[in-house]
Amino acid sequence: MAALFGIWMFKVIFLGLIDPSQASVRPRVSFARGSSERVLGIYSSSTLKNTSTLLLSTDEDTLFVGARDALFSLDVSQSDSITLKDELKWTPSSDQTKTCRVASKLDCGNFISILQFFNSTHLYACGTNAYKPQAIIIPASSLNANIDKKDAKNCCPFSSTQRNTAIIVDGELYTATNVGFFGDKNVISRCHSRGTHNNLELETVPKLLQEPVFISSTHVASEGKILLFFTENGDLSGDYFGNSFTVSRVAQVCTDDNGGTLTLQRRWTSFAKAQLVCQQGEDLQFNKLQDIVKLSPSDSDSPDKTLFYGVFTSQRSVSSGLSAVCAFSLTDIKAAFSGNYKTFDLRGNHWSPQPNTDGKLGKCGLFNDTDSVLNRVKKSFLTENVVHPMDKTLLLSSAEEQYTRLAVHRAQAVDGQTYTILYLLTESGFLHKVVLLAEGPHIIEEIQIFKQPQIAKNILLSKSKSVLFIGSSEGVFRVPLSNCSAYPNCAECVLARDPFCAWDTETRACTAVSETKSTLRQDVERGNVTEQCIEFRNTAAVLFKTAHLNEIVVLPCQSKSKLAKMTWRFSNNSLVPQFPYLQWTDGSLVFPVSLETTNTYRCVSEELGFQQTIATFSVNLPVVPRSRMSPSHQQPEHIDFTTIELDESEPINEEKINDRSEEKQASTYHDAGKDTLCISQKSYYSEMVAVCIFFVIFCFCILAFFVVLWRNGKRCNKILPQEQPQKGTESDKICQTEL
Ligand SMILES: *[C@@H]1O[C@H](CO)[C@@H](O)[C@H](O)[C@H]1NC(C)=O
Ligand SMILES: *[C@@H]1O[C@H](CO)[C@@H](O)[C@H](O)[C@H]1NC(C)=O
Ligand SMILES: *[C@@H]1O[C@H](CO)[C@@H](O)[C@H](O)[C@H]1NC(C)=O
Ligand SMILES: *[C@@H]1O[C@H](CO)[C@@H](O)[C@H](O)[C@H]1NC(C)=O
Ligand SMILES: *[C@@H]1O[C@H](CO)[C@@H](O)[C@H](O)[C@H]1NC(C)=O
Ligand SMILES: *[C@@H]1O[C@H](CO)[C@@H](O)[C@H](O)[C@H]1NC(C)=O
Repeated sequence: MAALFGIWMFKVIFLGLIDPSQASVRPRVSFARGSSERVLGIYSSSTLKNTSTLLLSTDEDTLFVGARDALFSLDVSQSDSITLKDELKWTPSSDQTKTCRVASKLDCGNFISILQFFNSTHLYACGTNAYKPQAIIIPASSLNANIDKKDAKNCCPFSSTQRNTAIIVDGELYTATNVGFFGDKNVISRCHSRGTHNNLELETVPKLLQEPVFISSTHVASEGKILLFFTENGDLSGDYFGNSFTVSRVAQVCTDDNGGTLTLQRRWTSFAKAQLVCQQGEDLQFNKLQDIVKLSPSDSDSPDKTLFYGVFTSQRSVSSGLSAVCAFSLTDIKAAFSGNYKTFDLRGNHWSPQPNTDGKLGKCGLFNDTDSVLNRVKKSFLTENVVHPMDKTLLLSSAEEQYTRLAVHRAQAVDGQTYTILYLLTESGFLHKVVLLAEGPHIIEEIQIFKQPQIAKNILLSKSKSVLFIGSSEGVFRVPLSNCSAYPNCAECVLARDPFCAWDTETRACTAVSETKSTLRQDVERGNVTEQCIEFRNTAAVLFKTAHLNEIVVLPCQSKSKLAKMTWRFSNNSLVPQFPYLQWTDGSLVFPVSLETTNTYRCVSEELGFQQTIATFSVNLPVVPRSRMSPSHQQPEHIDFTTIELDESEPINEEKINDRSEEKQASTYHDAGKDTLCISQKSYYSEMVAVCIFFVIFCFCILAFFVVLWRNGKRCNKILPQEQPQKGTESDKICQTEL
């Protein structure tokens, strides 16, 4: 008993009493890197370093990769391999590298910072070229064709460490980046303008951009606008500690803009910005945008239903977590830009309202307008209204994960309902797959992508290939959007609530939802197994275990699903009590064998109202013939503590548990027993004794401490008034400090 108490103390003190069911949204299943159930494709080579940009061809058969000193085209048309098609080596000249090094820059390579389709046949690429950016236009089919490398100091980034964004529309490059050797000039510009179009830049106006970090840009054809997303320093002049507060922004420029004739010549007449607020109620904001992607509506829907999904982190600690996802609608963004504005008053150093009575502010096509209009436009670029997320709530927040990049996708479930699925990369190197349900987000699974925590620069979704490409310094990864074969039976398939997966009653397999077949069973919204699965086994074969009196047995039980609630029950279905039993956080049941505890134990998992028995153990005392009993048999060698090497990667095979054949089941279970139950006979007796002794000493010390305190207190009380009545306060202090 003391030993058991020792274990208990140990668990409480060192491991804490963690109840996994308490945490908020957590991945249901986790796949470690190298798992055979989630096979990652990878392309790496000695010349592929610091992947910075990814671009997929329109047929999604070729992936272009911008990296350090090289540009690659990879054949990704085969599902089982990624092969090199073409490679362009593009290094800075040695003179330029030298100049760069002299200026003590660290990134003196040529980092491909922009990679876009210039037209249907050619690519446009920018390289930082050791802080002397160059641009090239090359045929996509042959990267080594004779090319001109052109200086591009106003349109291309100088540094590999600062984020930038660029997009080519009709052969014109819209780019937002920091330029200059010190990266101190912020530009939002149009380069390679064609025909009568002028190249355009930002006017130099106070408060236009304040130390911006450019995140992303997108073309909204229905509006004739480019939307740019970035973060910058806010107007609040810092907190108590003088730290400036970051704000997230959406900005617009119109593609038909051509600059004013007198005022705003060769400058944007359509630039405007609005604040994006990712916030729950009155909570602190998730103020730092990390990544944002567009989700276009279906063709039959209005383009105004376009949504933007962004991941945000917070500069200050927010009670609801480390990072959050918010969705913004184009309708709300349009409303902010067509509403009222603010003008910055330089003399008063404050913002004053600028009503948009004639509706000119934030409009496209102003470049032909009068100087008085353009003068107003020039000063009024900040909208009065902020853009709130849809329904003014977060879609998801995580207290454990710092999300950094995302991709978003829509999938149709068997019942015809469309679900939004988010793929979120965590800073720790995992990919979370999340489906947004009516009741809230559900993390279907997490897959470990990187060995080391790192921030991947980009993530790109290929719908037709059903994969994600992730660029990192380790290479380019290909991750399947789903793989239903990891779910061995109907119950598991339905509980996964993966819109891509359904149980086919015909083939008796969890299969990808491709066409609507009447034999497919799925319930994404509720995961109701009893409704969907006709046949399911919720019993497991009994595993017999013989143990000696006072031996500590450990009965293992693991569920792949981290959302399942595990309980241990007797055969009469009543719960195993707290004492003398211990239930470890990994699900195992631990107890000393006695006459009272020889019994049958069932480990039951419950998820979404569905109960199944994962394992059943019958623990018995050995039947030892009296004649063979010798005194030595009663010695402590039998009070060995039984331990089990629980291998996380090899949970008890549910496929086998749920197999139809009883016989096969029993034998597998015995096999499992051999591996997991039969027990390395390592003795923990001495450790246990040590813990107990330690505990007794610890109690004794506490007792001694209080006795000393008590005596001290008495002495103070007694001595003070008599011997040093005047200096009582000082002595009081001494006594108090001792206390
Ligand atoms: C899906 O998983 C199975 C194993 O469960 C594996 O054999 C197969 O290759 C995987 N398919 C893909 C596309 O990753
Ligand atoms: C390039 O990748 C290496 C690791 O492979 C990393 O240490 C280095 O900081 C990266 N350089 C830049 C400029 O991102
Ligand atoms: C794409 O642009 C390149 C470079 O300007 C040009 O040579 C090529 O003909 C263009 N292709 C098409 C299809 O317009
Ligand atoms: C701009 O204004 C001029 C004269 O005011 C007019 O001739 C021209 O068509 C206008 N252009 C556009 C694009 O509205
Ligand atoms: C169920 O069995 C356990 C152990 O055999 C016993 O302690 C408990 O009282 C039983 N519960 C009921 C409701 O019979
Ligand atoms: C599942 O469906 C059955 C039958 O419709 C219903 O009785 C049961 O309450 C449902 N379970 C849950 C957890 O919703």
